[in-house]
Amino acid sequence: MISDQPELALDRIECAARTLGAGGLVAFPTETVYGLGADAENVGAVERVFAVKGRPTTHPLIVHLGGAHQLAEWAADVPDTAHLIAERFWPGPLTLVLRRADRVPRAVTGGLDTVALRVPNHPVALETLTAFGGGVAAPSANRFGEVSPTTARHVREGLGADVDYVLDGGPCSVGVESTIVDLTGEPAILRPGGVSREDLEHVLGRAVSVRAKSAVRVPGQFPSHYAPRARVLLVEPDRVLDNAELLVGRGRRVGVLLPPEFAGDAASCSARHVIAVPDSAAQYAQRLYEFLHDFDRHECEVIVASLPSPEGIGSAIADRLGRAAGPRDQASRDSDRFNGR
Ligand code: TXA
Ligand code: MG
Repeated sequence: MISDQPELALDRIECAARTLGAGGLVAFPTETVYGLGADAENVGAVERVFAVKGRPTTHPLIVHLGGAHQLAEWAADVPDTAHLIAERFWPGPLTLVLRRADRVPRAVTGGLDTVALRVPNHPVALETLTAFGGGVAAPSANRFGEVSPTTARHVREGLGADVDYVLDGGPCSVGVESTIVDLTGEPAILRPGGVSREDLEHVLGRAVSVRAKSAVRVPGQFPSHYAPRARVLLVEPDRVLDNAELLVGRGRRVGVLLPPEFAGDAASCSARHVIAVPDSAAQYAQRLYEFLHDFDRHECEVIVASLPSPEGIGSAIADRLGRAAGPRDQASRDSDRFNGR
């Protein structure tokens, strides 16, 4: 008998929940990027997430929950600001750093006394989390230091048989990771993301700082994070085409992220792969990682790009492009790993 779509969807979710319950790894869609999930209370499963990602065990994972009502089960001493923010932004692209409740294993928090919590806004994720019932510890479903996945295909290409089950929920709608807000002291943004600083300030009715260098271990602080295989060269918007032609002239395999105002010049550019950046920052964010994956697929050696203005979600795009352009020689990689960042 051929099942209809809702039954099929239910089967997938049951299968994912059972895999999690048995200590398996499930890649699942969220509105930001795909996550590589494990039962947050199963230390063996959590350790496998670190092994598959190739991520140092000192880098804490986000625990994903099915609803804001679970907040008190996973965090201790929850301040009013957390309830305020959760009510306004959950489910959504926002992660709260709070004091850890006893049930959160230290394997998840990298030994920290705080825990990062998020309720993702994607029906497949929410149904899976509800069916599973517990918390799902999940980093982005990519190998450490590589570009985050925004489609199930990216996950399969990146992690292959190392994942027990991949839930395909289509392309992610936000496209860049969640904003991380530390609420264990004065509210501070640790990583810009899907919720803008401006929106947070509006809800809290006060200024929110952006912590440039966090005392905690946030891989976003690792300069070469979110990096495609190609080098990223950042220049002023009106110099993108000139620089691309110069590099083509030197025999390089060049990719171009063309600012929207120069989209009309795309056809005359002789680079190997040219992508005109969408006009809207939200659409740019949604497709940013897909673009970076595309450049890798076209085997570009260098991507010439410029930074969008750092307002709203533009600040998350600028942050990720800046990191993709960051230094990544072996020495700096080794020292970053050594320092557990
Ligand atoms: O949108 C997202 O946040 C995605 C989806 C899958 O939810 N997840 C994600 O996970 O980006 P990951 O592991 O790639 O990044 C999680 C970030 C890391 O920078 C980590 O250091 C930080 O969250 N983090 C986790 N726990 C923390 C804590 N207790 N204190 C400070 N930062 C923490
Ligand atoms: Mg990540």
